Amino acid sequence: MMGDMAAAPLVVLGLALLLVEGASAEVGSVSTSIEEVGSKVRLTCALNHSDTQITGHRWMKGGEVLKEDALTDLKMEYEVDVADRAGKYSCLFLPESVGRGDLAVSGPPKVKAVKRSEKANEGDPVTLACKSDSFPPVTSWAWYKMADSGHQDIVNGSQNRFFVSNSEARSELRIKKLNIKSDPGKYVCNGTSSQGSDKAVITLRVHSRLAAFWPFLGIVMEVLVLVAIIFFYEKCRQPEEVVDDDDTGTEPPKSSGHQLNNEDKSVSQRNPT
Ligand SMILES: *[C@@H]1O[C@H](CO)[C@@H](O)[C@H](O)[C@H]1NC(C)=O
Ligand SMILES: *[C@@H]1O[C@H](CO)[C@@H](O)[C@H](O)[C@H]1NC(C)=O
Repeated sequence: MMGDMAAAPLVVLGLALLLVEGASAEVGSVSTSIEEVGSKVRLTCALNHSDTQITGHRWMKGGEVLKEDALTDLKMEYEVDVADRAGKYSCLFLPESVGRGDLAVSGPPKVKAVKRSEKANEGDPVTLACKSDSFPPVTSWAWYKMADSGHQDIVNGSQNRFFVSNSEARSELRIKKLNIKSDPGKYVCNGTSSQGSDKAVITLRVHSRLAAFWPFLGIVMEVLVLVAIIFFYEKCRQPEEVVDDDDTGTEPPKSSGHQLNNEDKSVSQRNPT
């Protein structure tokens, strides 16, 4: 009996929490629409009702924020170029729990290079990467190298140096032990979905080990020149000092200076007479 009475408030609390969660989910009833307007595609999200004051809106695509504002409307819009439309979008009414809508806009894939140029030292590895946040997602990726003779397909694992790893949104080409003669150039990644394919180009530059060594060599040269200058300076000074030492070896140096001064005075005294 005592145990049941203690448990009752906990059950009530649990029910209350469930009700609160259910209620907040109901408030966020967002209707979405996608319409083509000329060369643009307009995405619209509308919230039918909110007890909470709206503090802003956020548009997202593939996990990245596209746009955020601090307006209070129950409706939000976003326009994209027709060519760039494909992807999974989300609209969020802020603060975040108020309401959210998801819009999938299908279209041909858009492939982008993560970095359009890469540079690395010979012997080092390098990773080239392409991505596509299109919808429907890219289902197959291919890499090739542009050459005068045409395209050289890159086969995964070839020469035990070229490795490709793929996911829906991204493809990476890793090249191990870069070769300065054969590896520099333009690499192309090609992504294909059910709606078409697109490609991006990445330029790879390979520096020689020696080039990386030049600045160090420069510093070594500078130090050597400096040491040489100091050495020759010391070499030139030493004979004079030796002569001086010989002169003043028998007499104290001060007295010789006084003698000179005295002679000078005597000369200047002599002149007027
Ligand atoms: C908003 O839409 C939801 C789901 O359609 C509905 O349950 C709710 O009653 C609507 N609220 C208002 C104020 O219209
Ligand atoms: C390429 O080969 C590696 C192993 O050598 C493997 O892990 C990887 O999944 C392969 N990539 C593709 C795209 O087949």
